[in-house]
Amino acid sequence: MVGVHDGRRSRSRFIGDGSDGPDADGSSHDAPGEQPTAAGPRLYVVAARLPVDFHPVEGWRRAPGGLVSALEPTLNETTAWFGETRPGQPCPPVRIGRCGLIELPVTANDHELAHDGFCNRTLWPALHGIGGNVEEQGAWWDAWRRRTAVAAEVVARHTARDAVVWVHDYHYFGLATPLRRLRPDLRIGLSCHTPIVDEVLAELTNSRELARGIVDFELITVQTERDRDGLLRWLDRRRSPADGRPAVIANPVGFDVERWIRRRTDDVVLSLAERHRAPAGVLIVGVDRIDYTKGLLHKLHAIEVLLASGRVAPDDVRFVQIAVPSRTSIPLYAYLGRQMKETAERINADFPRSDGRPVVTMVDEQLAPRQVAGLMRAADIALVTPARDGMNLVALEFAVLNGDRPCELILGHGAGAAEYIGRWCRLVDGTDVNGIADAIGDSIDTGRDEATADRARQRADAASVLTVERWSRTFLDTVSRSRDVVSGVRAGM
Ligand code: G6P
Repeated sequence: MVGVHDGRRSRSRFIGDGSDGPDADGSSHDAPGEQPTAAGPRLYVVAARLPVDFHPVEGWRRAPGGLVSALEPTLNETTAWFGETRPGQPCPPVRIGRCGLIELPVTANDHELAHDGFCNRTLWPALHGIGGNVEEQGAWWDAWRRRTAVAAEVVARHTARDAVVWVHDYHYFGLATPLRRLRPDLRIGLSCHTPIVDEVLAELTNSRELARGIVDFELITVQTERDRDGLLRWLDRRRSPADGRPAVIANPVGFDVERWIRRRTDDVVLSLAERHRAPAGVLIVGVDRIDYTKGLLHKLHAIEVLLASGRVAPDDVRFVQIAVPSRTSIPLYAYLGRQMKETAERINADFPRSDGRPVVTMVDEQLAPRQVAGLMRAADIALVTPARDGMNLVALEFAVLNGDRPCELILGHGAGAAEYIGRWCRLVDGTDVNGIADAIGDSIDTGRDEATADRARQRADAASVLTVERWSRTFLDTVSRSRDVVSGVRAGM
């Protein structure tokens, strides 16, 4: 391993040796524009982050997060994964299985401006339709364009001829244009993991340029039909007719269904579940990254309203919320974290339980998947109530894990998951505190009856369709076919 990043990175490194190394297909073409080889497998992933994360005690480990879980089963088919590491981390491993890891270089300053600034303070709230949280700065946009251009050069240099480049999420919305200029042979597709709410997106200062860049992808997949409509409406408003129009399909992200079914009988999961279940009363759980899109404060307020109304007594209910801090350098996120802590403390002080346990427990660390499963397996009710969310894999995982027992999933209709499993959930508006409180109260009243068990079974069946294999196969098959369609559109056919 080489030392810690010095914050002045400017060259790509083939990870592990600290230098530009061989291409992931074993060939070596150092300069963009040099003839790429046709050898080697065909799939390359580009994402904001590499799929590994550095832990001070455990060292490098699989990164937490939905995208990595979703793509993990396909890693062996993936030639290489391009992404950034977090500033200050040492050099990551060379590969995971057969998948090479190639770091996208960015200076610490550009990372802050482009990732924390443009991606997370401009695009993120805009995509979720939260206009009040959108902030814009010219320097963020400039850094984002610089970062995109550098990434295009690195990807162009390290990919085999005619390969498929699968770009994930909003961080590299602008990649297709410079990459296509350098490597017209590549098939470049984008999968959006966020919702696409056109109203706010269309009002961004650089909306037109963003839209004109995104149409250079041959294929864009989104989570739901609602997002497909949003994307097309945005493009229709902001691109010019000469820009062409990419193929856009709803292709919901997959997850490792089999693994979540196996966890139903996993000894570690079951003993953890036993422990979580121990105190009497209804157990409600939530699992989220701290983000204003997730409706976390609304959930806490709903619990408070329910307790204050007397419909449920503190001894009869516990709410355990995993709330992993994220983006803490952004003031709004840090503020939200503090508000949640204060709200939980207030509820616990106002509604003491006779056994001395808190009615609300906040867990602020990233737990291992089996620990999360242990908590989910114990839950009577899962509270997954984002105001808006791309898919929300927690909802799907909960559904599959618990298809064999009566339990309730209260789901925000703004989550993409609602389009796929909403029929078998209690749907709520994630911003409606009283509505969430009512849904919890109704679920507690209904209890573990036969109808609840039936719905849990059907919910699991519906979620089980969303496999990683189906997701990646649909993407790869469609991106292969989409070129002809798109060039036809571009040629005015
Ligand atoms: C969302 C995005 C992910 C991102 C994650 C954490 O889930 O869709 O791409 O990795 O938030 O955000 P961060 O900026 O910390 O990577």
